[in-house]
Amino acid sequence: MSDVADWWRTSIIEMAPGRIDIRGRPIQELIGTVSFPQMIWLMLRGDIPTAAQARLFEAALVAAVDHGPQAPSIAAARMAVTCGVGLNNAMGTAVNMLGDVHGGAGEQAVALYTHIAGYEGGLTQALKDWTAVHGRFVPGFGHRFHKPVDPRAPRLLALVEAAVQEGCCAGKYAQIARSVEAELARQKGKPVPMNIDGATAVIFAELGFEAPLARGIFCLSRSVGILAHAWEQQQQGGRNKGPTPPGYRWTYDPDG
Ligand SMILES: CC(C)(COP(=O)(O)OP(=O)(O)OC[C@H]1O[C@@H](n2cnc3c(N)ncnc32)[C@H](O)[C@@H]1OP(=O)(O)O)[C@@H](O)C(=O)NCCC(=O)NCCS
Repeated sequence: MSDVADWWRTSIIEMAPGRIDIRGRPIQELIGTVSFPQMIWLMLRGDIPTAAQARLFEAALVAAVDHGPQAPSIAAARMAVTCGVGLNNAMGTAVNMLGDVHGGAGEQAVALYTHIAGYEGGLTQALKDWTAVHGRFVPGFGHRFHKPVDPRAPRLLALVEAAVQEGCCAGKYAQIARSVEAELARQKGKPVPMNIDGATAVIFAELGFEAPLARGIFCLSRSVGILAHAWEQQQQGGRNKGPTPPGYRWTYDPDG
């Protein structure tokens, strides 16, 4: 039997009839005592964050919930609902569109900050090495819409500063991100300010989350906005809504 039981091994949960222990803690002791962000942390890491860590983590979760129907994932959720699928399907459709280019910059920015933190040499060369491998757009900086400032980034960085004062984190990654911002401005001759992904990546790195988790956590946060938009669309009705109003057509180009 043991080889059957060993098919799945986990340190996350233990159960018996009438007993559910998450990371060794009875669920009834967690219910009503830990916040949802603390629960996410416990599930992912096995311990419960301090109140200050949880507050900073929650700020990142709050900041990324939505970016409107022009974000492909949000539009896709709304379109999916008008096709008659349920909220879970609409959420799946949307989350499945969060990839390297849409929603993935947080993961890439944590990886970038980690690369810089471990780099032996100056920042200019560290960035050069990074872009040689990953392309010229530095993740976590610049924004198509929010110019000159993404309003979420300075607020999040101010919270990181406050957390550093409290002794909650060291501030190393905040400093790295600020120096990347300054270096980009120097290279481009104009500001290329930190965006939401660059700022939440600072928080995730300061709190010790590994890069791939930044994407997973972003999906958790953005799922809130996706659900809200899917639900709103369901309330509004609408059938078979495509990406543009029907009066607009695509460009027909016989040469592709
Ligand atoms: C979001 C993004 C696509 C906006 O690009 P954009 O609208 O073309 O940016 P702007 O018009 O403000 O600026 C264009 C110039 O700044 C540069 N620039 C903008 N963002 C840059 C970045 N992250 N790294 C390096 N250079 C950047 C461009 O190379 C371009 O310079 P050039 O004229 O010499 O070619 C771009 O900033 C980007 O890819 N950022 C990284 C990915 C990311 O963080 N995505 C999450 C966004 S919330």
